[in-house]
Amino acid sequence: MSNDTSTGAPITESVTDWATDYDIFDPQYVADPYGIWDELRDACPMAHTDRWGGSWLPTRYADVYAIAHDIEKFPSGNGISVVPMVPVGQEGAEGHIPAPVLTSGVPPISADPPLHTWTRRLVLPTMSPARVAEYEVFTRELCSRLVDDVLARGEGDAASEYAQQIPVRVIGHILGVPESMAGTFTEWVRDVLEFAHDPERRRRGIVGIIEYLNEAIGEREATPTDDFISELLQSEHDGEPITRDVVMGMCALLLIAGIDTTWSSIGSTMWHLAAHPDDRRRLIAEPDLMPTAIEEFLRAYAPVTMARRIIEDTDYNGCPIKAGERILMNFPGANRDPEVFPDADKVILDRQQNRHLAFGAGIHRCAGSNLARMELRVAVEEWLRRIPEFDLVDPALVTWAGGQVRGPRSIPVRVV
Ligand code: HEM
Repeated sequence: MSNDTSTGAPITESVTDWATDYDIFDPQYVADPYGIWDELRDACPMAHTDRWGGSWLPTRYADVYAIAHDIEKFPSGNGISVVPMVPVGQEGAEGHIPAPVLTSGVPPISADPPLHTWTRRLVLPTMSPARVAEYEVFTRELCSRLVDDVLARGEGDAASEYAQQIPVRVIGHILGVPESMAGTFTEWVRDVLEFAHDPERRRRGIVGIIEYLNEAIGEREATPTDDFISELLQSEHDGEPITRDVVMGMCALLLIAGIDTTWSSIGSTMWHLAAHPDDRRRLIAEPDLMPTAIEEFLRAYAPVTMARRIIEDTDYNGCPIKAGERILMNFPGANRDPEVFPDADKVILDRQQNRHLAFGAGIHRCAGSNLARMELRVAVEEWLRRIPEFDLVDPALVTWAGGQVRGPRSIPVRVV
């Protein structure tokens, strides 16, 4: 099987040596990465692979934390995708798929200061605790509606019919996107993140999002509304209106960053509650545990692995990182480091010390964490309030997706 890292073509040889040849798309890593991280942390805390253009995988909390904070050596502006990017937008020039180009990237996540600093400042008010409390009403009503469907049938898919349906509608509500677009956005975001290694799907997702936003922005330029897209169009930086390109990149980021991530966390939590009746019953009996339980689900099942791409040969703790290689921001692996989290592989609903890295660290720490936490809490509360007893139809039917964002894609459950 070919190993064409320049096009991001899939590599199918399964991994035999995780320290020197890991692949985060390997089915074993997608299904159960925890044992792999434990082994690497002891034997080779910075693993290396030549696959996907070459990258390094830290598994210790201290390394992931230090690298995330070192924005001089490990900036985000060179690329943050865990696989080489398909240059969408240039296809138009080559006569394939014409698409507007996001010349500013998707700030703030893809940017370094100063672009990072002021674009992040524009996002934060929309995600403040006060604004998130306003979105809670919509979210609760939505979750309740989704639970109605499962209850009516006595069974359902807690991933595809519940977790997956929530964040896309909440972010659509904030951006001012009609609910009828939810399915289409979900597919586009999966194309971009879950199928990042498949150039055709990735291109389809990016082009879909850009063309949709292009039109939505045009409509609001003509007739402003009270949604986030209009708010951004009316914002200024250094006394100048912010450019259409930056508005487009920021809106694309909110869609991409806010959907797959949050549904993966909700899904993993639903899977845990279905598969661990003792924890489920304890959470129902002791609702005061909800805040620590939510943090623990975020820690234990952190979905997001980002990357930093290096453009000049550099060194990290004796590891020779070559130009063009990536360093994977293994936030999920750091969260399982027993040096920082005693009994790291156990889910402890009342864990007290929990400075997890699910939302990243440093200047790029998740700008939507208030929103994500609210969605996760409300999704769990509404389900458990109406469906306290449920279980997996068959553990073998549960499927997981992995790569940049890891989470369950199917969790058939029945109400008992
Ligand atoms: C459980 C759900 C979520 C998780 C686990 C998560 C995780 C992350 C992580 C790890 C980063 C840091 C990326 C890096 O260092 O390169 C990040 C950044 C970001 N996230 Fe989230 N995220 C979640 C939900 C959301 C939501 C709901 C939104 C908003 C709609 C959002 C918006 C952002 C933005 C704008 C950034 C970039 C911040 C910056 O660069 O300054 N995220 N997220």
